[in-house]
Amino acid sequence: MGQVLYLQYDLSKFCPYNTVLFDHSDPSINTVLTAPTDKPGVALMDFVIFPPRWLVAEHTFRPPYYHRNCMSEFMGLIYGGYEAKADGFLPGGASLHSCMTPHGPDTKTYEKTIALGNEVGPDKITGTMAFMFESCLVPRVCPWAIGSPFMDHDYYQCWIGLKSHFTHGSSSNP
Ligand SMILES: [Fe+2]
Repeated sequence: MGQVLYLQYDLSKFCPYNTVLFDHSDPSINTVLTAPTDKPGVALMDFVIFPPRWLVAEHTFRPPYYHRNCMSEFMGLIYGGYEAKADGFLPGGASLHSCMTPHGPDTKTYEKTIALGNEVGPDKITGTMAFMFESCLVPRVCPWAIGSPFMDHDYYQCWIGLKSHFTHGSSSNP
């Protein structure tokens, strides 16, 4: 029989890095562990966390930006709140954004951020710990999860009402 080796890592000891002037750094800065593939830069599985940290970027939409990518993202919240979801994403909750599925902050977070404008000072996110498993493989959702009473069939509604605040050549928040 093979031996099983258990490892523990205190996530509060992970030191996050981020931009100190403007724009977002590549999200890979939050990677705690990675299982690589034979293709450089493509992970079989990344384990990523979003711990307490300072946000200081100027002239930048600070919450995680809207995007889609070729990786599939299973994200969960361990404790606290998540900066991009003002409502409904509670500790113990999780979301799955599969390959090329667009996602980003909910409408409430977006509107609140736009209302603050560009002149926001340093802000510290505290009392939170979110995680993500990110893979180049597309996960299959099991029937148990689809039939679970905890499935949020209204998840998409967190983006209802999103409207553009951008105009040609200028914006209220770059
Ligand atoms: Fe994402």
